[in-house]
Amino acid sequence: MKKIITIVGARPQFVKAAVVSRAIKKLGGIQELIVHTGQHFDHNMSDVFFEEMEIPKPAYNLEVNSLGHGAMTGRMLEKIEAVCLEEKPDMLLVYGDTNSTLAGALAAKKIHIPVGHVEAGLRSYNMRMPEEQNRILTDRISDILFCPTETAIDNLQREGYDNIDCEIHRSGDVMYDAALFYKKKQQDFTMPEGLVSGGYVLCTIHRAENTDDMERMQFIVEALNNLHKKLPVLLPMHPRTKKKIEEAGLALKVKTIDPVGYLDMVQLLDRAKFVVTDSGGLQKEAFFFKKHCLTLRPQTEWVELISNGVNQLVNSLEEFNAGAERLMKENSFPEVNLYGTGNAGEEIVEQIKAFLK
Ligand code: UD1
Repeated sequence: MKKIITIVGARPQFVKAAVVSRAIKKLGGIQELIVHTGQHFDHNMSDVFFEEMEIPKPAYNLEVNSLGHGAMTGRMLEKIEAVCLEEKPDMLLVYGDTNSTLAGALAAKKIHIPVGHVEAGLRSYNMRMPEEQNRILTDRISDILFCPTETAIDNLQREGYDNIDCEIHRSGDVMYDAALFYKKKQQDFTMPEGLVSGGYVLCTIHRAENTDDMERMQFIVEALNNLHKKLPVLLPMHPRTKKKIEEAGLALKVKTIDPVGYLDMVQLLDRAKFVVTDSGGLQKEAFFFKKHCLTLRPQTEWVELISNGVNQLVNSLEEFNAGAERLMKENSFPEVNLYGTGNAGEEIVEQIKAFLK
């Protein structure tokens, strides 16, 4: 039996890892140990995902959080190395682009444990983003790279990955697997008070480039307040955003709620008129649920959403207002398949097994 260690730490990683864990159980032959770095620690940001998605309990929780990038990544690196030395896995698997991802990949690589990267090859081409730094460095030291899209494969080829000693696979997107799986799952759901199906905009904001830049935060708050007068805006608020808005004394007048679990998010998405976000994951989830999206960022890794006309980058009040006006009247959505067949989890596990043989 081969042993792999899965590193998770931040909210979207719980969703992605749940898909692969389920495939591991189904296909057999691999023992998986989950290591939670502790990056996200509030009940609503972490435990609720493990409960709802039936993810195996982490074998280790490293409890590293609320630190600057250097200290956070450094402490994770040290603690993950210790776990690897103790457990001696055949491979370490990381997801996405967070500090937990980079720390995991680097810890394993330095002691010659093969690294697998799920969601490899994505680029925003903005090196100031911590996520862009994390994903480029993680890709470069990974032994097996699982790309969600054709664009991701092209990005790697342009960077010369054909000449680098690693395997590259187009696996499809595990988030698409998750959306299909959990959409089918029946569950109790109560609409937040005052909202009706099809009659609100679902919004999330948490990126450092927005929350830590006062000018951008001001424009975003003004844009959302304006929109809210025409169509209710529902904002499940990330703790980082809450803190920053309070510190800045900004008057946000939309409907805010605590962060929600994945199952509620799916229900909220399914009923929204459209989506406004700076999250990488939610841009795609909007697409899975046939919702248009305005993205509050200068670039996106999911360029195929832009070229297919279902996502628009908005970086000023004028762009936001025009985009929102357009989407309030929009009633159609194109039929295109961009993220695989919903089988990415099993695809990844088969490739891991072949790699470890
Ligand atoms: C991180 C990832 C980002 C990912 C996001 C998903 C990095 C660099 N960024 O951003 O790529 O899209 O997670 O949500 O890894 N906090 C709490 N409770 C929590 C979690 C966070 O209070 O449960 C606070 C932290 O103390 C910190 C702030 O929120 O002050 C930001 O958390 P952090 O983990 O640094 O980054 P995210 O913004 O969540």
